[in-house]
Amino acid sequence: MLSKKVSQITPSYTIGISTKVKALKQEGKTIVDLSIGEPDFFIPEKATERGVEAFHTNQTKYDLVPGLITLREAIVEKLKSENGVLYTPSDIVVSSGAKHAITNSLLAILDQGDEVILPVPYWTSYPEMIKICGGVPVLLQTNKTDQFKMTLESLKAHHTTKTKMLFINNPSNPTGAVYTKEELIPIVNYCIDNGIYILSDEIYERICYTDSFTSIPSISEAAKANTILINGLSKSAAMTGLRIGYTASSPEIAKAIATIQGHLVSHPSLASQWAGVGALTESKTEIDQMVAVYKSRREALIKQLNTMKGIEYITPDGAFYLYLNIGSIKEHVAFEGAFSLKVCDDLLNDYNLAVVPGIAFGTDDYIRLSYATELSLVQEGLKRIETYLQSKLNA
Ligand SMILES: Cc1ncc(COP(=O)(O)O)c(C=O)c1O
Repeated sequence: MLSKKVSQITPSYTIGISTKVKALKQEGKTIVDLSIGEPDFFIPEKATERGVEAFHTNQTKYDLVPGLITLREAIVEKLKSENGVLYTPSDIVVSSGAKHAITNSLLAILDQGDEVILPVPYWTSYPEMIKICGGVPVLLQTNKTDQFKMTLESLKAHHTTKTKMLFINNPSNPTGAVYTKEELIPIVNYCIDNGIYILSDEIYERICYTDSFTSIPSISEAAKANTILINGLSKSAAMTGLRIGYTASSPEIAKAIATIQGHLVSHPSLASQWAGVGALTESKTEIDQMVAVYKSRREALIKQLNTMKGIEYITPDGAFYLYLNIGSIKEHVAFEGAFSLKVCDDLLNDYNLAVVPGIAFGTDDYIRLSYATELSLVQEGLKRIETYLQSKLNA
């Protein structure tokens, strides 16, 4: 018999969609797939070189559990020069992707039944990760008028004696919203004053179109001590398959995370870690170029969205997603269960377009599409959405 825990876990919607897409492709259909948050770039040249070199120089054995010292030094330098926060290598634990960095952190902090406040919309894996690690996700509804950012008042309203942690995803997947420093300070100070740890997932921080991004630990020494920073190379350096993420935290938490990781996976693949060194120390120009491409796609897509009827969107200040409100057709669509699932099924089956239902992020009137893919494909995707919406509105 399977565990009670596993019966409470919802399978990943995004993985479910990619499975359907693969099946349709095998049937010979051509699908415009905007469902995955995966950069369409090669990894930086120097990352490839360093990774390949690792194989040739026999860097293929066990190494330090928290990660290669050279990589941790490179991460420390990145956090100092790009995010204005000072760590030492012993504060860093390199893990197999940011997902792993998050679950390591939850295992280090949560006891059974501890509450974790999660602003909605949330990245789809967060609630399930919290449950897997014995915690209870407490959903904090945000408002479109606040660009889906939480406020101090809403945080206070969800704080109980069981609250152990707050998740902040900045820039946000799915909305692309970026908190300003002024918005963060009261939230961060409230958490410090009330012994609530912050898990700050900043994996999209490098893909940001405003100057207003602030890394939470850079706010103050107390903010740094109270925060587990999550970042990695999957998005910024297009290294999704190489699985390099990391935590930066107080030495005490870092030690706990390393102890857990030591028993579960030891450390991520060494060749991937060397590729990470190449990405962090020798690939700035290439990464800047990727960000510039996302930015120009974003501008073109916003122009297109502004011509579309029946759709509302949030201008993304970071990441590479469009979060589209398609609630205008709700009364014209027959559905059982989740509305956004039905819309995504229609788009996939009738329009050969794969996007992710908003229900995966806790907001059912929305769909998410990724523009980490060729612009012409995304533009074609938006056209198909428009045709679908019009067919419903005019029916
Ligand atoms: C907000 C957020 N955090 C973490 C991750 C996981 O990153 P990784 O692929 O490095 O595990 C993702 C991936 O989509 C994400 O969107």
